[in-house]
Amino acid sequence: MDFKLTEEQLMIQKAARAFAQQQCLPGVIERDEHQKFPKELLEQLADLGFLGMMAAPEFGGAGMDTISYVIAMEEISKVDASVSVAMSVNNSLVCWGLEHYGTEEQKKKYLTPLAQGKKDGALYIGAFLLSEPEAGSDATHQHTSAVDKGDHYVLNGVKNWITNGSTASVYLVMAQTDASKGPKGINAFIVEKNTDGITVGAKENKLGIRGSDTHSVSFTDVKVPKENRIGADGFGFTFAMKTLNGGRIGIAAQALGIASGAYELALAYSKQRQSFGKPIHEHQAIQFKLAEMATKIQSARYLCYHAAWEKDQGLDYTTSAAMAKLHASDTAMWVTTEAVQVHGGYGFVKEYHVERLMRDAKITQIYEGTSEIQKMVIGRSITK
Ligand code: CAA
Repeated sequence: MDFKLTEEQLMIQKAARAFAQQQCLPGVIERDEHQKFPKELLEQLADLGFLGMMAAPEFGGAGMDTISYVIAMEEISKVDASVSVAMSVNNSLVCWGLEHYGTEEQKKKYLTPLAQGKKDGALYIGAFLLSEPEAGSDATHQHTSAVDKGDHYVLNGVKNWITNGSTASVYLVMAQTDASKGPKGINAFIVEKNTDGITVGAKENKLGIRGSDTHSVSFTDVKVPKENRIGADGFGFTFAMKTLNGGRIGIAAQALGIASGAYELALAYSKQRQSFGKPIHEHQAIQFKLAEMATKIQSARYLCYHAAWEKDQGLDYTTSAAMAKLHASDTAMWVTTEAVQVHGGYGFVKEYHVERLMRDAKITQIYEGTSEIQKMVIGRSITK
């Protein structure tokens, strides 16, 4: 067991921290307030190789390990979780899914520009379309249909809460081809966003990650060539679940970053703010909060690293990814709330950043599988 980061991982941490502090921090309050998608920052992430971190270099990726990805996610999420969720979806759900289950042709055509994050000089990212108005946690009950017409499928239905919904050029869409087969009747498709019949709904007005590009997407008689199906007929639900296992590591890392960002701000504030004649961290009430924050964050970090390590070792990481997400997202919610408390009245105003981090933390307990779903996954695994 080695707890030391490698030289390469330390370099990635440094680069991600510099990007977060120098590029993301200026303007983060305004982007949150005006719900502005950080497109320029995503373009910079593409140039850094952070949109296809784990994808193989032959497909335009950076060929890094999952721990490096977790490290970069933590640093960027300390400052702007709207940037990091777009990055996470492209890395873990879109690129990883295509690299592991796509055909050579699909990888050449789609993965390469997606991992580079650019095509013909313009931002080129993907989105993962599983959730529906009536199928969130209960993802096996897909209502979107895909009818087999020989050389193509025809898709009809509505997808909800889609991250990168209006910005993505490529959608990975899960749809039901045979409802009588349950999850085995679901397929996953690569769908180009500019295909006829696709309508992007209005941007959601959210509590947190307000800069993130969240939309519903409707499909009306959308023709998808058969060669754009991912895997064998009926593989779509397994594809979604396997891909989400890695996605959950990314969101766990995002939650870790939100928590550590809030903790660092609370620690700095506690040294500078005086009350009753001394810096507030000298009061046991505040020091105990900081101690508990640091401990919870460190345990979340090790769960994230462990899940990432299992993934890099080729082990089954389903349970460890669920544990990391469950614990890191609860930690993010708790730590950010306490960070607001440490700041007192200042924590309640936007200039001090912690109220935004508290709002951003909430979604980590919801998306890519709610905390209740993570408990289901863990519970089923430990009792089987
Ligand atoms: N990894 C691998 N396989 C899995 C799996 C996992 N995590 N979870 C389920 N499966 C497999 C099962 O083994 C089963 O396969 P077999 O039939 O071959 O045994 C199949 O999938 C069906 O699973 P279940 O029988 O367990 O089905 P269920 O309906 O009882 O439960 C569920 C399924 C675990 C609840 C699943 O629906 C689920 O994970 N729901 C949450 C969905 C989710 O995470 N949505 C996130 C939306 S994407 C998003 O948020 C992206 C974004 O933009 C930020």
